[in-house]
Amino acid sequence: MDSIRIKGGRPLVGEIRVGGAKNAALPLMTAALLSDEPLILANMPRLADIETMKALLEQHGVTITLEEPEDGVSGRNATLDARGVNNTTAPYDIVRKMRASVLVLGPLVARHGQARVSLPGGCAIGTRPVDLHLKGLEQLGAEIELDQGYILAHAPNGLTGADIVFPFVSVGATENLLMAACLAQGTTRLKNAAREPEVTDLAECLNAMGARVSGIGTDTLVIEGVESLGTANHAVPPDRIETGSLAMAAAATGGDVTLLGARPDMLEQVFRAMGQAGAVIDCEADRVRVRCPRVVGIDVMTEPYPGFPTDLQAQMMAMLVRAEGASMITESIFENRFMHVPELCRMGANINLHSRSAMVRGVARLTGAEVMATDLRASMSLVIAGLVAEGETVINRVYHLDRGYERLERKLATCGADIERVAGR
Ligand code: EPZ
Repeated sequence: MDSIRIKGGRPLVGEIRVGGAKNAALPLMTAALLSDEPLILANMPRLADIETMKALLEQHGVTITLEEPEDGVSGRNATLDARGVNNTTAPYDIVRKMRASVLVLGPLVARHGQARVSLPGGCAIGTRPVDLHLKGLEQLGAEIELDQGYILAHAPNGLTGADIVFPFVSVGATENLLMAACLAQGTTRLKNAAREPEVTDLAECLNAMGARVSGIGTDTLVIEGVESLGTANHAVPPDRIETGSLAMAAAATGGDVTLLGARPDMLEQVFRAMGQAGAVIDCEADRVRVRCPRVVGIDVMTEPYPGFPTDLQAQMMAMLVRAEGASMITESIFENRFMHVPELCRMGANINLHSRSAMVRGVARLTGAEVMATDLRASMSLVIAGLVAEGETVINRVYHLDRGYERLERKLATCGADIERVAGR
């Protein structure tokens, strides 16, 4: 297995282009299942999770072509053609690798009247059940059974619109039911729906395919079902979590980095928090410049959008470990998303966990160490810690980073980081 070796202590200075958003691209790819006309997606990132979703959709019978752009740098173009879907089973071997696989459930039931999708099981950051997805589909008229680790869903006569009130915000359940409702008979109202930019983007793509979704960007999505969906051309938005991660890396190292092709409007809370922590952030429509003369402790709590995202909690913690003063970081979305804490402490951080909160007392220095992370964002927090630590840090299990950060070591190296990928033996 590959690892990443970093010699820390250099401020990041320069420009980095942000890639397409993983968490927008994955649901968009599953939306192709709703139509028998091709869906064309631009700005697709080069990530392991995209390859996993490609493999999943291909085994359902979707034809997918991914083209490199002429410059070899911008995102790829994907054409997904679901005319030939001949298999409605999503097997355990793929679903266990990537939980977003469960997003094929709604589109398959809506268009084919049936689906057999492996239950994803537990995960390093929490138990992550899919009960809201299943209850919502039942409300749309599907019969759901669980059998030998699989979800069996049937709706031989199609789905029917319903009013669905989510007891709490779920990005995936909102996306699954939004897609399913597009082909249901009648009107569906999704209340307390997720407002994450990736949900908004999916709704816009569905409308471009011929769906009738209104209330986009609010917590109530209203979907008038249509007979069928057609073709669309849609560009994957820039990755707000990659943008935030790189901004925090720049700030933690006391650097000066401009992130190109970004959407700062999707990161208002994040940049507000970083500003309180001492970062100087200059936003333009499609770029953001981050500098940070000194970091001071602040309190942060993760919340559904537009609040501070759980997907940036670990990276924010890495930025705050060397702050002047203390910070309190509270995770309100996932019950076990502090797996980076013991590893940061091995590098010299002073962090105490109290249930869902972490008290981070700033330390003067971190020292490099060999570390390992159990999930994508935790791995990125260790990269940030490695960039500021004295000496050498080796981060193992790089496959986590490859799931969600495109060409990370190259991007950081162009800004002066001493970082390299070491091929596994
Ligand atoms: C999405 O996961 C993202 N994944 C996650 O990104 C992100 O952390 C999460 O939303 C929260 O923002 C993708 O978009 C592919 P949820 P999702 O349903 O949809 C509980 C990353 O690093 N819940 O909003 O799975 C759940 O356990 C990742 O890129 C239920 O109890 O998240 C969690 O505590 C990881 N029952 C909370 O709700 C359900 O049926 C929010 O989860 C569904 C969710």
